[in-house]
Amino acid sequence: MCQDNIKSKKTVSIIANEEIAAGVYQMVFREQEIAERTKPGQFVNVYCQADSRILPRPISICQVEPRAGLVTIVYMVVGQGTKEFSNLQAGQTIDVLGPLGNGFSPVACEESILVGGGVGTPPLLELVKQLPGTKHVFLGFRTGSYLVDAFKQYAQVYIATDDGSVGQQGTVIDLMNAVGAKGQQVYACGPKPMLAALKTWTNERDIPAQLSLEERMGCGIGACVGCVCKVKTDTESGFTYKKVCKDGPVFDAKEVIL
Ligand SMILES: Cc1cc2nc3c(=O)[nH]c(=O)nc-3n(C[C@H](O)[C@H](O)[C@H](O)COP(=O)(O)OP(=O)(O)OC[C@H]3O[C@@H](n4cnc5c(N)ncnc54)[C@H](O)[C@@H]3O)c2cc1C
Ligand code: FES
Repeated sequence: MCQDNIKSKKTVSIIANEEIAAGVYQMVFREQEIAERTKPGQFVNVYCQADSRILPRPISICQVEPRAGLVTIVYMVVGQGTKEFSNLQAGQTIDVLGPLGNGFSPVACEESILVGGGVGTPPLLELVKQLPGTKHVFLGFRTGSYLVDAFKQYAQVYIATDDGSVGQQGTVIDLMNAVGAKGQQVYACGPKPMLAALKTWTNERDIPAQLSLEERMGCGIGACVGCVCKVKTDTESGFTYKKVCKDGPVFDAKEVIL
């Protein structure tokens, strides 16, 4: 996994910032080094302009176009920081730091399963582009959906929604069971309950899985210990703590305790 992060904040030009679903925005910015160095599953720290919001907001890198130097992020408006980002227009600038964290480690196999939940969906797009073999993508949303056409260019896509507004009603795990999902490697990003259910699902079938955690973060660069998760060890306690921002956000399902 990659750990050669770029550590200086950059002021970047926003090329586009559009609402692609209710409260979900797609921002494209130009930054050559991030576009060239990003591995699927890495994230950027995005900074607010308001002085009252000094902590950066971690947002996954959805896709990159290295030749054009373009980086796309997709974010949901949940609080004041993301609200501020949603008001920015093409032609304005924003401060970002990245690429940060360790991303997914693509494994060459015949069939891969990718599972995204809500705002855990965006980082899987760059991954699905880069993975060899046949790819089965399972996306779960509360209501509606986004990025589906982009995924369809690379994979067979199945959708589940809590309210049944798109695809099958129920969880993404229900959907995987309904279609008999199969593959030799699983990659996932989404809320903790989804990742915990998937950990059980892959354990029962003895399929290796890489899970990306979206823990609440402070600094995002390993300095504040604000983002720890538990991982198994052979010690008496049976576990130790790792930092999601620096050691993750992607962890082996067999190692991480959810
Ligand atoms: C590695 C990683 C990748 C992420 N990728 C995406 C993505 O691609 N798209 C997306 O919509 N969201 C993503 N998130 C969640 C996103 O960071 C939060 O929704 C966002 O920081 C909320 O900021 P706010 O100011 O609007 O909300 P507030 O709740 O006002 O934020 C207050 C503080 O809490 C932190 N915070 C709040 N919610 C979260 C959260 N879920 N995860 C981490 N920190 C949080 C904020 O960074 C901020 O420091 C990701 C989180 C992590 C850790
Ligand atoms: S967010 Fe500060 S150490 Fe991870």
